[in-house]
This record gives sequence, structure tokens and C-alpha cells, in this order.
Amino acid sequence: MIEKLKQHQDDFDALISKVPSLKELKQLRSDFLGKKGCVSLMLNEMRSLPNDQKPLAGKHINAFKQNVTTLIQEKTLLLEKKSDLTSSSSEDFDTTLPGRGSPSGSIHPITQVMDEIITIFFSLGFKVEEGPEIESDYYNFEALNIPKDHPARDMQDTFYIGEDVLRTHTSPVQIHVMENHPPPLRIIAPGKVFRCDSDVSHTPMFHQIEGLMVDKTLSFGDLKGVMNIFLHEIFGQQTKTRFRPSFFPFTCPSAEVDIECVMCSGQGCRVCSKTGWLEILGCGMVDPAVFKFVDYDPEEWSGFAFGLGIERVAMLKYAINDIRLFFENDIRFLKQF
Ligand code: PHE
Repeated sequence: MIEKLKQHQDDFDALISKVPSLKELKQLRSDFLGKKGCVSLMLNEMRSLPNDQKPLAGKHINAFKQNVTTLIQEKTLLLEKKSDLTSSSSEDFDTTLPGRGSPSGSIHPITQVMDEIITIFFSLGFKVEEGPEIESDYYNFEALNIPKDHPARDMQDTFYIGEDVLRTHTSPVQIHVMENHPPPLRIIAPGKVFRCDSDVSHTPMFHQIEGLMVDKTLSFGDLKGVMNIFLHEIFGQQTKTRFRPSFFPFTCPSAEVDIECVMCSGQGCRVCSKTGWLEILGCGMVDPAVFKFVDYDPEEWSGFAFGLGIERVAMLKYAINDIRLFFENDIRFLKQF
């Protein structure tokens, strides 16, 4: 029996080395492993052996079967690869066809606007800083002089993660930066922010750029100057701006800045709710209470801060009326930028 197996193995080895194609390989497989194949026959023969010889014979037949199976698998892969190669060089391959070219992506409009804003502030000497998207209550609220009972802490605005929050604005980066750098400083901090809100002009995640400048003698006039330079660069030199008194817990005095409506040039339309103006950013002089949290002496240093939403700028620049388009990843939309 063992002799016979050895003979079969030799036969198989000789045959498989000469198999030219997958079709012949299939035949070889059925000759050896099929229902009426060599292995089946051997197993049948084994049954007529004396009982004490059966285990050893079974072991050898199984080893043979295993070996044949593996060799056939290896040969299959080899032949498949070969047939792939030959089919692409066969005569039905038209070498005169133009190449397919790989599709190239484009920079997302939000990233483009973000880069544009960063470039403008970079030219004014501002450095880019970043902070974490998950913040403690201290950085997102407390150190920004937002007291415990302030409405901005209301559950409907803020996403809570246990004790922490998803930052609701980029202002906590002000605190991180001032904790780690002595004044004077001039930074901007672009990044994602999160608020529990969703409609045509709000998404639960959006982007802001924060700005902070601290120096010895900064005044509201400096803030106005910097904001005007920025807004004229981004929306065009003829754009009219206006500063309206406002309130933020971490700045005092505070203002909101409007630009003349880019859709109707101040005539009043649906986009500007017939006012002729569009609110574009919040800003103000750093509140001395904030300086105290980071151990800056408010008698010695003054500063201004501002924050604006990138999506809002992008929507106005490109006349987009639904903020959700930015996040649907529709290639037809994204390709236009
Ligand atoms: N953090 C404010 C907001 O999200 C914007 C702001 C930043 C206002 C800095 C003043 C100073 O609305």
C-alpha cells in the first residue's frame, strides 16, 4: 500500500509540473481528489486491509491527500496570475486607447477659506495655535468668566461627555495659550466646535477661528483696525463694516461686527433679513477677570480677542444658502471650488 502511494505521489508530481492551464489542472484535481479519484480508491482499498494495518495506511493516505491539495492550490494561484498577465497582453487589448487617468481631489471649501483667513492673519504677525476639542468645564467656561448659571451652559447648547464638554467655541484656546506663554502674544486658533443645534444655517459641528492679541498698550482702536484690515482682505476693499455694542462674558467692552450685505449691497434682502447688514464676528477687549485666571497682570497688559465662524464666511463668499452642503460630501458640490 505504502509502495503504491509512493508511486501515486511520483505520478502526481510529474503531472502537475507539466500542467499548462487551469482547465487541465481541474482535470488533474478530479483524477486525484474527485469522487472516483485516486485518493477515494485508496481509501476504499484500505477497508479490506487487516484491522491492525488500517491506522497506518489511513495516516499515509491522508498525508498524501493533504499534499496533493496544497500543491494544487499553489499551482492554481500561479496559473491565475499567469492568465491575468497574458490576457492583458492578448490581441483584444487596444494600445491606442487613451489612459484612464486618476481622478484628482480638491481642497474642501471650508479648508480653503480657513487657509485664506490664516494667511491674512499670518501677514499681520499672528501665529497659529491649536487646542483640544474635548475640554473641561474650566477651560470652556470657568476661566472665560462664564459663571455657573450662565445660559450658554444650558444643556441644549452644550454636548456633555461626563464631566467634560465638546468645546462650544475656540475661546478656551486663549486660556491654554496664555497659561503656557508669557505676554506679549498674537495668535489665531482655527478648529472644530460643537453645539447641539441643526437647521439650514446651523450644524452640530462647525469651524471657528479665534484670535488673541496681548500687549502693553492695546486699545479698542487697534481691535477695530485689525478687524477692518481682515474683513477688507477677505470680502473686498470696498466692503463697509460696522461695530455694534454686544456682550461676551470674557471681553469688555464687547462688539459684534457686521459687513454690508454681500447679496444686496445694503439694499435689504432675504439673506440679511431686510437690514442690509450681516453679522460676521464677535470681539472685544480681554476682560481683566480672564487675565487674572492666567496670572497676567491686568494693570500691565491689555488685549483683544475675536471669534468667527468659517462656514458663515464661506457661505457669504460663495453665496451658499444651506450650511449642510459642506458636510454631505457630494462630489458635484465640492468640485465647484
Ligand atoms: N467665543 C465667541 C462665540 O463663540 C466669539 C468671541 C470670541 C467673542 C472672542 C469675543 C471674543 O460666539
